[in-house]
Order: sequence, then structure tokens, then C-alpha cells
Amino acid sequence: MKNHWSWSHSLKNYLLMFDLTTEEFDRPILDVAAGPSSFNSEMHYQGYQVTSCDPLYAKPANEIETITTAMIDELGEKVSQQSSQFNWGNEFSNLAELLRQQRDMAAIFCRDFPEGLAQKRYCAESLPRLSFEDFQFSLALCANFIFDGSLSDDIQFQLDSIHEMCRVAQEVRIYPLLDQHGRISPQLGLIMSELQLADYGVEIRQVSYQFFKHGNAMLRVFSRRCELT
Ligand SMILES: C[S@@+](CC[C@H](N)C(=O)[O-])C[C@H]1O[C@@H](n2cnc3c(N)ncnc32)[C@H](O)[C@@H]1O
Repeated sequence: MKNHWSWSHSLKNYLLMFDLTTEEFDRPILDVAAGPSSFNSEMHYQGYQVTSCDPLYAKPANEIETITTAMIDELGEKVSQQSSQFNWGNEFSNLAELLRQQRDMAAIFCRDFPEGLAQKRYCAESLPRLSFEDFQFSLALCANFIFDGSLSDDIQFQLDSIHEMCRVAQEVRIYPLLDQHGRISPQLGLIMSELQLADYGVEIRQVSYQFFKHGNAMLRVFSRRCELT
């Protein structure tokens, strides 16, 4: 079993994880390491434009569906083994409810993927390099990848990835700040210092997403450098 978590989140989850307001929906948003999240699809059907990127999107749609089904099965096993890391009740009442919602979100994504790929709403891209223009987006969101994903032990990769997201967006939001074991990432302090030394504004902001114990915060990075003259 992989050591990272294979979540698939919805628009409702993203609103809470990133403290998003509807005013922010009119700005160009990039979802990085978006995986089989239904955020893009749900936003699209409400008339908003989100670009999602993930290396997974290079694969054919039927293969993505197979991978996603296996990811959710694996997630179920992992969550049942480590159930005490989660607050059951608010977001998901129990494991069966969590898995039902994961399957629903992944199904929304899979139905939308072929059309979204053709419309370039889904792009096959891998951190730490993205092909987007400088400041093409107002906001870059990155859920469940930087601190708790497959490359979360590699601080250089994390820093390069955050710098790259700051290149393409005016503000970057990262959630959660937990490592793969549900602890505040030991790299967080060093990453924040390095970003501040590079003249980025950084802020840890409390958020209302309650499912992960200790997971009620996101990192905001303001990428317009403060040029002191
Ligand atoms: C746990 S999923 C997160 C999905 C989504 N953000 C959510 O929270 O619902 C992590 C995603 O990171 C993607 N990923 C892996 N390596 C990556 C890389 N180098 N750059 C960007 N995404 C990557 C994986 O394909 C996977 O879809």
C-alpha cells in the first residue's frame, strides 16, 4: 500500500479547506495536483472557469477510471487502519459514507474529464515545472500533495514546487499542513522561512475543514514579491 493518501475532494470540501469565497470564483483559478477531484467539474457547471493540472491527465480516460477505482479501494483500507486520525461526524459520518462520497466525486470527475480535456480545463502537468504563463492565474490551490503526497520527504521538491506555483499565480494556497502520518509537517517551518527570505508573504490561516485532526489550517503564499526600494 502507498504511504500517501489518495483523496478525491469536492467543491464543498475545497470551499472549507481553502476558505474560498464566491467573490474569488470570478478570478482565474488553477488547481494543482488536482487528481480525480470534482472541484473543476462542479465549478464548470456553475459557470466558473478552473484549470486543473495533474500528471494523471496524460493517461487515457478509461485508464484514469481504473486507477481512480483502485485508489479509492486503497484509501478505504488505509483509513480503516488509521481511523483515529480523523474527526468523524462533520464532513463524513463513517467510513462507508466517506467511500460513497469519494466514489460520487470521482464519478463526477470521470464523466467530465473527456470534455474538460478537450476544453483544456484539465492539463497534464507535473510539479516542479508548469507550462503556464507568469501570473496567468489569480489563485493556485494545491490540496493533499505538498506536505502529505508522494514527494513530501523532499524539501527541495516542495520549495521548487511552491516557487513554481508562485510564478504562475498571485497567491498560492496549500492544504493540509500535515505529513502522511497526520502530524504537522516537520518541513513547514523551514519552508516558510525560505519563502520569507525570498521576499514572499506567507500566512498560516485557520480553516473550517474539520475532517483531519490538527488539519484546520492552510498555508497562503503571496507571490508578488515585496520590492523594498
Ligand atoms: C491525493 S491526490 C489529490 C487530489 C486533489 N487535490 C484532492 O485533494 O482531491 C494527489 C495527486 O497528486 C498528483 N501528483 C503526483 N505527482 C505529481 C507532481 N509531480 N505534480 C503534480 N501532481 C502530482 C497525483 O497524480 C494525485 O492525483
